[in-house]
Amino acid sequence: METVTVELGERSYPIMIGAGILDQLGAQLAAHVSARRAAVITNPVVGKLYARGVLDSLSAAGFQTVTVEIPDGEEHKNLAWLTFIYDRLVGAQMDRGCPVIALGGGVVGDLAGFAAATFLRGVPFVQVPTTLLAHVDSSVGGKTGINHPAGKNLIGAFYQPRLVLIDVDTLKTLPRRELVAGLVEVIKYGAILDAELFALVERDLDRILSCDATLLQHVVQRCCALKAMVVQRDERESDFRSILNFGHTVGHAVESLTEYKRYLHGEAVAIGMAFAARLSHARGYCKRETVQQIVQLLKRIGLPANVPPELIGPQLALTIGSDKKMAGGKVKFVCIEDLGRTRFESVGSEEIAELAARWMAAGI
Ligand SMILES: NC(=O)c1ccc[n+]([C@@H]2O[C@H](COP(=O)([O-])OP(=O)(O)OC[C@H]3O[C@@H](n4cnc5c(N)ncnc54)[C@H](O)[C@@H]3O)[C@@H](O)[C@H]2O)c1
Ligand SMILES: [Zn+2]
Repeated sequence: METVTVELGERSYPIMIGAGILDQLGAQLAAHVSARRAAVITNPVVGKLYARGVLDSLSAAGFQTVTVEIPDGEEHKNLAWLTFIYDRLVGAQMDRGCPVIALGGGVVGDLAGFAAATFLRGVPFVQVPTTLLAHVDSSVGGKTGINHPAGKNLIGAFYQPRLVLIDVDTLKTLPRRELVAGLVEVIKYGAILDAELFALVERDLDRILSCDATLLQHVVQRCCALKAMVVQRDERESDFRSILNFGHTVGHAVESLTEYKRYLHGEAVAIGMAFAARLSHARGYCKRETVQQIVQLLKRIGLPANVPPELIGPQLALTIGSDKKMAGGKVKFVCIEDLGRTRFESVGSEEIAELAARWMAAGI
């Protein structure tokens, strides 16, 4: 087992990463909280696979537990299911010391995290992520929240967990499409911050996709260390943390224009990363080879690397323009200078749509 610490003064916390470590949750939690009652939030898919092990481990460490199941799927990351969680916590007479444990992917993590941030003005929160996206991204850094009918993640809070326990063995049951989508975030860390990590994914792709535990532990540890570094420098995304939005400006627009149905988040971000690399080259910031390296890796994994033609047009500019992260009609766009090196650029949403149209016409 390896530990990465997120250093945030009094709110610092460990991320424990290993293979087959789910049964250590109870002992680890007992060392971090004094209460001996806990709520486990999960969904039926993950619960069926892992709740028993987690509950046994908690009970062996002296915890009484209440399990709250929310239905599977992004569409349930909403106020109605948040209320359902509050009702169950009230019903179980949880007090301010009782931890809320998220067992699942990013949906469960975001929803349970926001419940923990707000119930009784904040109770201890623990992340036990079970998707690759949640291992390397959503479980670390303290962003929690729910969707609003008007948009994704519009309601939320920064609320750091007390402990993150990552068992890479949980990835063995994850559908391959979800694994691949999570791998896009790994490639993103490599592209923006760590050329060695990028090279490792290029070299050991097959071993990663076959869920080699030793390799996955290393990859997840590296990504968590990078995310911890970013969050330590800029917890609330006032500047540097937006480096993590590499590929997300166009990625979010693609997701939104296809109503979150056609692409998984990671797949849309793959399109966005290829676009961001091409834009970086078009502005003279990076070499053509860097773009090719990124695009080729994405294509090798079977990921899309082009904005679908039917989405190119005024609606693309409008969608990017309505992004909550826009400022003064321009978006703070993450460009790449080389693998592992980035720069922020102010780019207009119309320019993005024009470039997409030009590259489509040129068959790029
Ligand atoms: N808080 C953050 O910083 C942050 C960052 C990125 C994404 N997010 C959020 O994360 C969410 C996406 O998370 P996700 O990609 O993990 O999706 P998800 O939570 O919907 O999980 C994907 C699917 O895999 C299933 N699953 C989970 N673990 C499994 C396992 N081990 N074996 C088999 N099936 C398993 C889930 O039930 C679900 O059907 C979005 O809501 C997004 O907004 C948050
Ligand atoms: Zn993302």
